[in-house]
Amino acid sequence: MDNLYNLILAGLQKSNRAQSLDQNFANYLRSLQTPVKQLRQSYRSDLVTVDYSSEEIQSAYLIAYYPQYAEMTKQVLEQVNYLHNNLFLLEQKHLNICLFGAGAAPEVVGLVSFLSVHYPKLQSLNIRVYDIFADTWAFSQQITRNIIDQLWQGRIEFSTHLVDFCQFDSFKDLKDVISESQLFIFQNCLNEISDFKDFNQNISYLLEIMPSNACLIMADLRIYKKTVKFQDKVKKFIQEIDLELDLLCFRYMENLDFTSELTMPDIIIKNLLTGDSFLIPRKNIKCNFLSIYKAYKYEVITNLLKQSNLLNQSLLSLKNLQEQENYNLKHQIKVLKLGLIATAIVVLLILIFMIFY
Ligand SMILES: C[S@@+](CC[C@H](N)C(=O)[O-])C[C@H]1O[C@@H](n2cnc3c(N)ncnc32)[C@H](O)[C@@H]1O
Repeated sequence: MDNLYNLILAGLQKSNRAQSLDQNFANYLRSLQTPVKQLRQSYRSDLVTVDYSSEEIQSAYLIAYYPQYAEMTKQVLEQVNYLHNNLFLLEQKHLNICLFGAGAAPEVVGLVSFLSVHYPKLQSLNIRVYDIFADTWAFSQQITRNIIDQLWQGRIEFSTHLVDFCQFDSFKDLKDVISESQLFIFQNCLNEISDFKDFNQNISYLLEIMPSNACLIMADLRIYKKTVKFQDKVKKFIQEIDLELDLLCFRYMENLDFTSELTMPDIIIKNLLTGDSFLIPRKNIKCNFLSIYKAYKYEVITNLLKQSNLLNQSLLSLKNLQEQENYNLKHQIKVLKLGLIATAIVVLLILIFMIFY
């Protein structure tokens, strides 16, 4: 992860957007100044609308935003893992993860960095990225694939799918995937939502069908007021779900501020993020997150334990019965053997008697 900028630059180079890290590449980086400025202007509004279809815009995003958003995922996961006393079992070998509105998917970089430190026994990951512009982001997602190949030692499946999370019932098609996944992340995408009505319903459905011991995280920059309001709303309707289902949702809503620890290569400082207006490198990130961990209610657990206790008792009595039967059988065989020996002795005595008398 410390090497993230260089991995991104190498990915851009490999994608033939620029031939080498020399003068051509410096020119290429300078050509990205305008797309970076365009992105920064778009993100200033409270309702963000960005056309991510051009490769220049995506390359600008990869250098000006992606590294800090990968760090943001890692930082949020560290915090959530701490608050919920470990998100997964320490012995966990495999995880299914859904990333919504992930675009280029910097979340994956933060995720694998977090998992390799905290869950070193994990052997495989299945990461599914859902985005309304899943196809449009193909260029950047290929770079993400190359980066994770270098950061993650285990097996990894990474697939992207087209989903509009603001469309009525759009999560119903994902029922099987959702019910088998352990982690769901929405990062930096709530600010692009204009109509929350169907989105709310989809989130409600996700919370209902996601398995227990799974976690949903929504993380956003604090500059967008509406995302904070929305997270608050989600927190409230979870209380209703708590009452309806046999489940308990542990939730946290926290602010998180951090300073980027990544070192930016000189070639970027000289040619792209020079410090001029709209080209200032991002150092300090102020975000907040809502995390919801789903678990069985205390009464449900006690009930399950009671049932398992009863089962244990009946298994124990069954075992006792079998042991008793075995004992009886062995005893009967012993008696039979003694009978046979006695009969043989009697026959022998009769024979001896008949021979000598
Ligand atoms: C600013 S990008 C964030 C990407 C990534 N999560 C990150 O942290 O860098 C917002 C993403 O949300 C996606 N998005 C916006 N509205 C969406 C919707 N209705 N359904 C699915 N994805 C959506 C956009 O396509 C874009 O990829």
